Parts: sequence; structure tokens; C-alpha cells
Amino acid sequence: MENELKKLKEEAHKLLGKISDKGDAEEFRVRFLGRKGRFTQVMRSLGDVARENRPRLGQLANQVKKEIEEGFEKQISKLLQPSTSQMDRPDLSLPGRIPPRGALHPVTQIMNETCEIFESLGFSVAEGPDVEQDYYNFEALNIPPHHPARDMHDTFYISESTLLRTHTSPMQARVMEASEPPIRIIAPGKVYRNDSDITHTPMFHQVEGLLVDKGISFADLKGVLTIFIQKMFEKDLALRFRPSFFPFTEPSAEVDIACVMCGGAGCRVCKQTGWLEILGAGMVDPAVFAQVGYDPKEYSGFAFGLGIERIAMLKYGIDDIRLYYENDQRFLSQFI
Ligand code: DAH
Repeated sequence: MENELKKLKEEAHKLLGKISDKGDAEEFRVRFLGRKGRFTQVMRSLGDVARENRPRLGQLANQVKKEIEEGFEKQISKLLQPSTSQMDRPDLSLPGRIPPRGALHPVTQIMNETCEIFESLGFSVAEGPDVEQDYYNFEALNIPPHHPARDMHDTFYISESTLLRTHTSPMQARVMEASEPPIRIIAPGKVYRNDSDITHTPMFHQVEGLLVDKGISFADLKGVLTIFIQKMFEKDLALRFRPSFFPFTEPSAEVDIACVMCGGAGCRVCKQTGWLEILGAGMVDPAVFAQVGYDPKEYSGFAFGLGIERIAMLKYGIDDIRLYYENDQRFLSQFI
């Protein structure tokens, strides 16, 4: 019997390694460990063994059985574990990764919207250089050297005659110089001033407007700006024209709109005045026409310049202009 147990152990060991699926496992179990299996058969012969040898052989038989059972369990748990190649395989039941969605910067959005509104009114877009000549930025606009108006511009000079444009108004002179009336353009772009606080950044965006034709009056300017404000703020906001001074327009006005927050009643945003300043405008000064060779007796026109950051601040209730340029996702993601 001892020999048989040994044989049984060896045989079982050999076959254990070959178990590779459920079917093999079941076959092994029935063959060795089942009620009519090999082990039960061997145990039956225990009765034929001499009495004094029984305890020892019984113990041995139990040990062999235990070994086979343990080996079998081990093999089964190996089968149940996924192989590494299975783990590397993608799990097709997982939800997909959502790619982060970008959006246009709020300033770009308002810039585009501004251009679209004026384009719908028949204006076309003219673009010019950020690095501008002193001549177009100042002289052609009736701001000669040493004119006090230059002080207001906090200009970044590149050389004595070139600078970073401080406004989009030089495009007035460039367009008129290059073409004949009628003219109906807007000039969007970046402008630069050496200034920085909660309402100023060294770079910001403006849109210039210029319309020149025969018989153009201040009423035309008022009509165009009223339509623009109503479309931009999607509200029937009142406009107010305050007399002002710009060297390149005469008469000149600063234009206010009824406060977008309180509707004119007075609040913190409008400093209790009920009005918000929104742009500068006026009738093209005859001195500017003279620079570009237009006859001021034949033609008249209006011009305006508006700040995009300021419009976006009023539209969205932003109280610090520097937020636009800090690349903070918490701020920018609100404009998607
Ligand atoms: N260029 C002026 C500025 O940046 C704004 C301006 C005022 C533009 C009156 C105009 C205008 O065309 O007519 O302060």
C-alpha cells in the first residue's frame, strides 16, 4: 500500500501541472479525489494491511490526500487569476475620457461680436500695424510734437519716430490716405500704454470706427452708436453724449450709457451717477482731412474709438481688468 500511495502521489503531481481549464480540473477531481476515485480505492486496501501498520499508513494516506488537495486548490486559483496579457488589454466597458474643451478668450469673443455688429451695418474691417509711426499715431491726427495731448498716451517709444500704437485712431489716417470717400471702416486691434492698475493694462484692445461721405452729420454718429449699444448689451439702454476734446475730432464727445447694473438709478458700479463712460467719438476734424488731402467742404465724417476690455467688463460685471491676462482657468472657464 505504501508503494501505491507513492505512485498515486507522483501521478497526481504530473497531472496537476496539466490542468489548464475547467474541464481538466473536474476530470482531475473525479479521478483522484472523487468518491470512486483513485484515493478512495487505495484507502479501501487499508483493511488488508497488518494491524500494527494501519495507524502509520493511515496517517501517510491522509498526508498524501492533503498534499494532492492543496496542489489542486493552488492550480485552480492560478487558473482564476487573469494573465498579465489580459490585464494589459483595454477595458472596453470603461467610459471614455472627455477631452478638455477650449473656448475663445472673453476679449476675443467681445471683439468678434463688436466687429459682427458693425459689419451688419455695412462697415468693413481694416487692420494695421501694432508698431506704428509717430506720424500716424499723432501728427496725422492733429497732434504735433509737444502737443499736450501726447502726455495722456503714456507711449512706449521704439525709436524717435516709431512706437507701439497707443490707440487704433492711426488707422483713420492710413485708410483715408490710401482711398477715396465714401469710407465706412472699423479697425480692431491691440493698443499699448505704459499704465497698469485695476482699470488699465499695458496692452488692451480697441475698435476704431470711421465713416466719411457727403452730408454726414452728428445724427448719423448717434444712430450708429445707439444701434451698436443696443445690440451689444441686448437692452434698450439710453446713450448720453458729453462734450469733450480730442485733437482729431471737432466737435468731440464722450459717450455714456445708462448703467448696465442699476439701469440709471445709481449704484456702486456707476458711482451713483447712473451713467457709464463707454467710448470717445466726434466729427472728423478738418485738420485731419487736410492731412490726407480730402476737401472738408465736400466731405464730412464721424469717428469713434471704443475699448473692448471695458465693454466686456460692463457686460459681464468684471471689476478688475487684469483678470483677463492672468490665464486663470477659474476665471476663463466662465466664458465657455
Ligand atoms: N483714440 C481715442 C483714445 O484712445 C479714442 C477716440 C476718441 C477715438 C474720439 C476716436 C474719436 O475716433 O473720435 O483715447
